[in-house]
Amino acid sequence: MPESIVILTGAGVSAESGLGTFRDTGGIWDQYSLEDVATPEGFARNPALVHDFYNARREQAAEARPNPAHEALARLERQLPGRVTLVTQNIDGLHERAGSRSVYPMHGRVDQALCTACAHGWQSPSRLSTQATCPACGQTTCRPDVVWFGEVPYHLDAIERALLRATQLVVIGTSGTVYPAAGFVEVASQVGTHTVEINLTASEVSDAFDRVIEGPASQAVPAWVDEVLG
Ligand code: OAD
Repeated sequence: MPESIVILTGAGVSAESGLGTFRDTGGIWDQYSLEDVATPEGFARNPALVHDFYNARREQAAEARPNPAHEALARLERQLPGRVTLVTQNIDGLHERAGSRSVYPMHGRVDQALCTACAHGWQSPSRLSTQATCPACGQTTCRPDVVWFGEVPYHLDAIERALLRATQLVVIGTSGTVYPAAGFVEVASQVGTHTVEINLTASEVSDAFDRVIEGPASQAVPAWVDEVLG
């Protein structure tokens, strides 16, 4: 049977591209209140603050470059005689820019905008504000097309289908604390899929995996891809 590998990535895969992680010391949630900038209630209270937060993240993502971990995952998809499905919690677009094609950005993309009035989606300008107008309906009801806490992530049906047919689940650079992504390892284990964690250091959820590889993603991921491709 050809391999069908599902990869789940988190902020750790982009750390060496210069983008901050959330829960490491000094991470994004040490600097900002999650409730203020990553919930629908926070946006309703203070949309300007939320726009500022994502404007900064959009700018950082645009300036960042894919690192060897992103590039190795794109190479795996090109060269594996089987299927690679890349699920990412990251909103930075770096997997796509590295050349990965089968990508499910389950928490949305910071370079996309969404109208809360008419649901139109479009390529975001570099800065969104409370004055920005939707190109489809003209209302000033624009938000970044990212998924906030309390909202339903994107692509869940397709991700579940990929998980259920996977021969291997590889989870890279995520603390495994945010559901539903944190639950993928349990789904995979229940159906007998081989599970691998790649992280800088063993995470709090490492025990759930069949194999744990420790190291910076820029080194550990290319080494693992070389091993898989033989
Ligand atoms: P976290 O900040 O929670 O976890 C980052 C993980 O990356 C940690 O386990 C680190 O050990 C690991 N790490 C750091 N540097 C690394 C490196 N160079 N190589 C390999 N691993 C490294 O980030 P996520 O798990 O992605 O959601 O966070 C999940 C979600 O929580 C995010 O998508 C975001 C956040 O709140 C929303 O905003 C909805």
